[in-house]
Amino acid sequence: MTHAKILGTGSYLPANRVSNTDLAQRVDTSDEWITTRTGIKARHIVAEHEKTSDLATEAARRALAAAQVSPDEIDLIVLATTTPDMQFPATATIVQQKLGIAGCPAFDVQAVCAGFMYALVTADAYIKSGMAKKALVIGADVFSRILDWEDRATCVLFGDGAGAVVLGASEERGIIHSRLHADGNYLNLLNCPAQMSDGNIMGSPFVKMDGQGVFKFAVKQLSAVADEVLQESNYTKEQVDWLIPHQANRRIIEATAKHLGLSMDKVILTVDEHANTSAASIPLALDAGVRDGRVQRGQTLLLEGIGGGFAWGAVLIEY
Ligand code: ACO
Repeated sequence: MTHAKILGTGSYLPANRVSNTDLAQRVDTSDEWITTRTGIKARHIVAEHEKTSDLATEAARRALAAAQVSPDEIDLIVLATTTPDMQFPATATIVQQKLGIAGCPAFDVQAVCAGFMYALVTADAYIKSGMAKKALVIGADVFSRILDWEDRATCVLFGDGAGAVVLGASEERGIIHSRLHADGNYLNLLNCPAQMSDGNIMGSPFVKMDGQGVFKFAVKQLSAVADEVLQESNYTKEQVDWLIPHQANRRIIEATAKHLGLSMDKVILTVDEHANTSAASIPLALDAGVRDGRVQRGQTLLLEGIGGGFAWGAVLIEY
């Protein structure tokens, strides 16, 4: 049986690090408020010239280097983003061009903060079915461009970044099991309603969020989907070496870990330094764990994410 194995990981953060204290110079907030409610201490924000495809391409180059795979071996690119460079074409094709390759399928998936889960599961299906042998799976977002910097309830929560993995067809186990879900009834909890129409932008181009509604829904569904994936694959929580969750808020992560009975020293946490980077947050956290040596070959990883839609999912991996 063919499995999809992670051959390498990479990530990229813009150089400009903005601490809570920096942010408090221009927004009516404080380090104390942000830290106690979210665990966020800083975020990285793109420079004016930087686009989602630039962040994604750099993360992809680093993942390719780690995997020792050259760009022309890639036969699939799936990119998760909510902040594409353009209305069309897909940012995945722009990354493909920047990597100097052509011909393989390249497309975007849109599931907001659950986007990397959706992209990973899509690429896994391509590999298992024999439609691809080496896939680049990327999560990249520049949420700073769709934030209302006058709305302190949302603008303090997000950052920019990109993360990527190279997935390869393998005889060894890799992605063990996954589950994706969505429920469009929760549209009003979190959205960015703008659309282009007749040369105008219709609706607000900024993120709108019901913070407490998101919090409750996220804890409930992340706990449920983690249980579901473990049960369906006959794994116990004791077998999980690392929980690598979407990094929206330390309190959501703590509540999910508690539900699973996992201590926080089994959780890769990057929300303090990255804030919520949407589709990039899970691969950024995975790459942080790989590069600092916590995540080791042969370990079992549980990745999980949730975002607007609502859309959510979890993936169990033997790394
Ligand atoms: N700085 C200072 N004060 C603030 C700020 C801020 N940045 N933002 C809001 N406040 C004030 C409010 O105005 C309010 O003041 P009031 O009592 O005088 O009216 C007070 O703080 C409390 O506001 P609440 O919204 O009730 O604060 P809450 O305790 O619910 O925390 C938060 C808000 C942090 C957003 C919380 O609801 C949360 O974490 N929700 C999850 C949201 C999330 O993670 N979204 C990410 C996107 S979705 C995803 O990725 C899954």
